[in-house]
Amino acid sequence: MTDAILPPDAIARLRAALAGAGYTSTGIAARIGAAGTAGMRRNDLRAALRATEGADDPLATLIRVFVCGQTEPERVVAAALAPLSLPEAVEAGLVEPVSGGLRAGLDLEAYGDQWIVSDVDAAMRPGQPLPREHVLGVGGASTTLAQSTIRRPVATALDLGTGCGVQALHLSAHAARVTATDLSERALRFAATTAALNGLDWELLRGDLTAPVAGRRFDLVVSNPPFVVGPGTTTHTYRDSGRAGDAVCAELVAAAPRLLNEGGYLQFLANWLHISGEDWADRVAGWVAGTGLDAWVIQREVSDPVGYVNLWLGDASEDPATRPARAAAWLDWFDANKIEAVGLGLITLRAGGHDDPTVRVEDLRQAVDQPLGAQIEPWFDRQDWLRGHSRDALLGARLVAAGGLQLTQEATRGPEGWQVDRQLLALTDGLRWVEQVDPLVLALVSACDGTLALRDQLDMLAVAHDADPEALAQVAIPLVAHLVERGILLPAGR
Ligand SMILES: C[S@@+](CC[C@H](N)C(=O)[O-])C[C@H]1O[C@@H](n2cnc3c(N)ncnc32)[C@H](O)[C@@H]1O
Repeated sequence: MTDAILPPDAIARLRAALAGAGYTSTGIAARIGAAGTAGMRRNDLRAALRATEGADDPLATLIRVFVCGQTEPERVVAAALAPLSLPEAVEAGLVEPVSGGLRAGLDLEAYGDQWIVSDVDAAMRPGQPLPREHVLGVGGASTTLAQSTIRRPVATALDLGTGCGVQALHLSAHAARVTATDLSERALRFAATTAALNGLDWELLRGDLTAPVAGRRFDLVVSNPPFVVGPGTTTHTYRDSGRAGDAVCAELVAAAPRLLNEGGYLQFLANWLHISGEDWADRVAGWVAGTGLDAWVIQREVSDPVGYVNLWLGDASEDPATRPARAAAWLDWFDANKIEAVGLGLITLRAGGHDDPTVRVEDLRQAVDQPLGAQIEPWFDRQDWLRGHSRDALLGARLVAAGGLQLTQEATRGPEGWQVDRQLLALTDGLRWVEQVDPLVLALVSACDGTLALRDQLDMLAVAHDADPEALAQVAIPLVAHLVERGILLPAGR
């Protein structure tokens, strides 16, 4: 078991200092105001600095040191951290002496009314390349995964590659027991500190990917793994898995059947290659094939190689002197492997316990309502419903159209007036899918109010459009199944 950066009694004193000062997200927001809070989220600290200038009360000092990266006089920092003593804080690396006083040695982030410990953000040390063992704080990817996680109560949860412990912190709100693993001992020390500061008890295990939990199963596994694709060399543990290409993500998929209890989910952020002449979706579906798991893979973004390499070199503030050569070597590797782009997205796998698993790999590029996680379990529920409703059962089912659907028509004005070219039906919340529909499908969806069975609706449409009911049903069934999958049509009474 890994120890926190401070012993338990000192952690309790640090917690008392933070809580006593009101160093929480709401406490900070109240102190620096709306402009300061909005600026802080975009690394513009001017308003936060103005709001705390000249003040030496503990909250102002903690904000100036840990949010704004300022150096403050020793006396003031000592007062802000009391009852933790300054030598203890320096010894733990929390603050470090520099000319003019003390500055943050670690990041101590107020996260709601909890706290997260990590290395200081790259923005606070301009011009300094991140060291190999840098432990990230809460970033965009952390938030994406946290928002995408299915938050149902579970007995056991695993955070694989925990880093500062942000996912484990979220899991603690709905899992009875939380296990967190990491390859990095430094990361585990921070995760142990995050757990201790928040009065939580996590099982922390060190090792490569699933090795530390071999032979164990969980109800929920989440991971924001080191998914960055490249030649398989590691310069930064937080982003490089040491596996070439997207192999780390394929490995996680392959491990899932041994990791999940029946009904359990594995959710992780992933990158995958778009290789010339290959369909990316087939590539990722190939990872899932044969696992027996239900899968929903959503591609949220696609990055071109130059943008991708520059993003990650910049993310680690890699040395500007060697950066061009590093970029060239990385891009040569892309070329040599015929990689045209990199897809970024979320993989959700479920041990469904049935032998005809659903595997859907698709683009979901539109903005969605957050938290996305609230939409994911219902998606699997709808797949279960569809699996239980083969042709006849589906025809016998009553369906309702989702609330707040929006119809957009595009029309061209011709000699005979307006001619409708395209009709788009949109979900106005949740996953916000937009579907192009023909007049018949639109009529069907519009009439779905849960009163008639689908078969009766189709019979009425067949009469109205002088169509053969059997032929209409043949065409309608896959369309209806697709609309149910997307949440545009829903089983009545559920
Ligand atoms: C992108 S960070 C994610 C940190 C945190 N979970 C979050 O969501 O922000 C990836 C983490 O995986 C860890 N890691 C890297 N290689 C690993 C491996 N082979 N096995 C387990 N963890 C690994 C890194 O040390 C790092 O903490």
